[in-house]
Amino acid sequence: MGSKITFYGHATIGIETGRFHLIVDPYFKGNAAATAKLDELKAEYLLITHGHGDHLGDAIELSGRTGAKVISNTEIGDWLDKQGVETQMLQVGGGLQFPFGHLKMTFALHGSSLPDGTYGGLAAGFLLTTLQNEKIYLAGDTGLFGDMALIGEEGIDLALLPIGGLYTMDPTDALRALKLIKPRVVIPIHYNSISQLRQDAEKWKEKVEAETKTKVVLLKPGEGYKVA
Ligand code: NI
Ligand code: MN
Repeated sequence: MGSKITFYGHATIGIETGRFHLIVDPYFKGNAAATAKLDELKAEYLLITHGHGDHLGDAIELSGRTGAKVISNTEIGDWLDKQGVETQMLQVGGGLQFPFGHLKMTFALHGSSLPDGTYGGLAAGFLLTTLQNEKIYLAGDTGLFGDMALIGEEGIDLALLPIGGLYTMDPTDALRALKLIKPRVVIPIHYNSISQLRQDAEKWKEKVEAETKTKVVLLKPGEGYKVA
């Protein structure tokens, strides 16, 4: 049984793998693109890529209701810890085996301050290896960097990459990123959720599929994809 990815809008991703529900960057309340209601979500783990409000999102409230453990870097983890949230801290380059699979924290070229201005450590992405041995690269907010080639060496089944530009890679740089990562499938995120991040994903899909072997899966908020 392949893991199931649900796109909740902007950069918020649900991953159902085995009996576990993971939510990456759980931003629902202020997220104009979000389709799901915060009170209806199930989660045992929340993965936070960095401290910005559109990624930390509703982590505290969601963790409070569901008891979900929050996985983040140590700086965000310390900040959440002080607010009574159960956390598991990692740092870039490090990883840990969880009941749902293995998570490694990867580098992301971005900032990470927390909503109250507290230093949020390094921005990050995650490399998830599920119990079925699917490799899912969650890039987080990031610009293009050459070491994406090292992540690609791991053999990526699915990559979730930002393409919105302005704060992250734009479609042109995301195509260059794909040539380094070489995933089987890519799902673009962090675009069209606000007017400043408007991009033509259909056009990008055509270009990517003409120039690489990667298949592009475009998800509207609320839609899902099963990792084959
Ligand atoms: Ni950000
Ligand atoms: Mn962002």
